[in-house]
Amino acid sequence: MIPDSFIQEMLYRIDLVDLIDGYVPLKKTGANFAACCPFHSEKSPSFTVSPSKQFYHCFGCGAHGNAIGFLMEYSGLGFVDAIKELAGRAGMQVPDDHGAAGQHVEKSQALGEIMARAARFYYEQLKGSARAVSYLKERGVSGEIARRFGLGYAPEGWQNLAAAFDDYSSSELQLAGLVINNERGRLYDRFRERVMFPIVSQKGEVIAFGGRVLGQGEPKYLNSPETPLFEKGREVFGLPQARAAIRAQDVVIVVEGYLDVVALAQHGIGNAVATLGTATTTMQVQKLLRQAGRIVFCFDGDAAGRKAAWRALENSLEVLTEQKSIAFVFLPEGEDPDSLVRKRGGEALQRLIAQATPLSDFLLRELAGHCDLNSAEGRARLVADAKPLLGRLQSSLLRLQLVKRLAENSGFSQAEVERLCDLQSLARPAPARAPRQAPSLLRPLLRLLLQKPQLAGGLPLDLLPGNSTEARAVRLLCETIGDGGVRMLAYPALIEKLRGSEYEGILRAAAAELMQQPFAEEGIDAEFEGAVKRLLEGEHKRVFAVLQEKVQQLGVSGLSSEEKQQYLTALGARGRPGSVG
Ligand code: GTP
Ligand code: MN
Repeated sequence: MIPDSFIQEMLYRIDLVDLIDGYVPLKKTGANFAACCPFHSEKSPSFTVSPSKQFYHCFGCGAHGNAIGFLMEYSGLGFVDAIKELAGRAGMQVPDDHGAAGQHVEKSQALGEIMARAARFYYEQLKGSARAVSYLKERGVSGEIARRFGLGYAPEGWQNLAAAFDDYSSSELQLAGLVINNERGRLYDRFRERVMFPIVSQKGEVIAFGGRVLGQGEPKYLNSPETPLFEKGREVFGLPQARAAIRAQDVVIVVEGYLDVVALAQHGIGNAVATLGTATTTMQVQKLLRQAGRIVFCFDGDAAGRKAAWRALENSLEVLTEQKSIAFVFLPEGEDPDSLVRKRGGEALQRLIAQATPLSDFLLRELAGHCDLNSAEGRARLVADAKPLLGRLQSSLLRLQLVKRLAENSGFSQAEVERLCDLQSLARPAPARAPRQAPSLLRPLLRLLLQKPQLAGGLPLDLLPGNSTEARAVRLLCETIGDGGVRMLAYPALIEKLRGSEYEGILRAAAAELMQQPFAEEGIDAEFEGAVKRLLEGEHKRVFAVLQEKVQQLGVSGLSSEEKQQYLTALGARGRPGSVG
């Protein structure tokens, strides 16, 4: 665990405008800075950075966060890696804690160095192997592309890596998955006589390898096992190499094979990555959607490819948001992306990609394909099969579209489809309208506290109405301000504290509103007093209503003497002109 105090100090030292400007050039617009949003595609800038509050907010897609959040979203770094990167910029050393997490980090560093050394070794070996070079030539891979992907060669022989490492018997080499220790205690290289494809993390470090036999042989591909550096379901092949092209086009193409990625790059299609021989996971989709507005899965046209596409669809539903899109290309039977571009060129594939089948079409087509829509049973089954998928879908717009089309195809009404799929509870409370229905006194208070945390001391917390999320957010904010030092007053630190909590959304909204309409510095104290006054009046009103009900039922004699006093005070307050009426 990295201590909170370290993170706060670090956030305090980093200037968010500087940081973001290094990735996305910012323009000054009044008190803030703006750019076209790097997280969704847009023509006019709605991505805004507040220099005073040190957070960013996109009024288009809702992206919102501090420096850590920005690096995580923009570079796809994990939390710890984002902190390490920022600490480096701030000239700080991430505290070395000696617990399990600290050891884990140290171990990972050692493994990282081992993998880098192995990758260099394989890379050098490729140059020396006429056989491997000619294999790659035959498959249409140029020297330039081979270098770009760091392709290598693991020669024949059992202990080649002994030439690359001082201690071949080190357990770290086994942990890295490069050396295998058999039952009889004999050590040997995992990869032998294979073309090596390094899998590079987003930080640019080699974390695993895939190795292909030269020509025929079993298994065709051998991959690194999972190690402390490498979790298959989180990684894709080719991402660092594809990053620039993905960004330029806002599209990422996902294929199945290492060689597909390499062949596409060879034919000028640089924005492709590959899953690692397993079904596409939700984590992979999420990672890719952070980099691009659109994913196009490009799978083989056979039954296996269709199945892979379906798995990818299922695993995309819960991370597909309104601003993003996902589509599918099914190649002609017998082709994979590599063979297609080699036969017909990159443009032919680009055309297929431009006409990719939208996720919703693929979903409906597949479901309908399994049901006989001419029978009532078949149409009912269509809706029943759709139910679990609709429930996982995050985008309510897409869900509505699908419901409409399901209704058309099944002959049920839209309302019936929603009921059969248990969607009413998801569809009814229009979330955008909820806040407007109950204009809260607490929202302006939140904004005031965010802009000037010193005001917290003047807020009578016991008078906060109700136990709404807003009320709890205001209390939490006051407590945080109360027991934190100066640094804790800063909004970026607050974001860290609330990451993933129920208050995140409310505070984001308040901060974003503040960004567009900050309170005037000279009027803010009066504004605060006004808000507190309205709060007190609201409380009086509430007390009065309770007492009045009691009076109506029991008469004035039903009140305790204290209650009588309250009742009279409240009555007096109501009578005064210009107050609550
Ligand atoms: P080429 O025959 O070299 O064109 O391979 P490909 O890239 O077209 O591979 P294929 O479509 O056969 O498989 C797609 C991906 O699945 C590969 O890139 C590997 O990640 C994985 N894969 C294929 N065969 C094997 C195997 O035998 N073992 C393992 N572990 N993975 C495999
Ligand atoms: Mn292939």
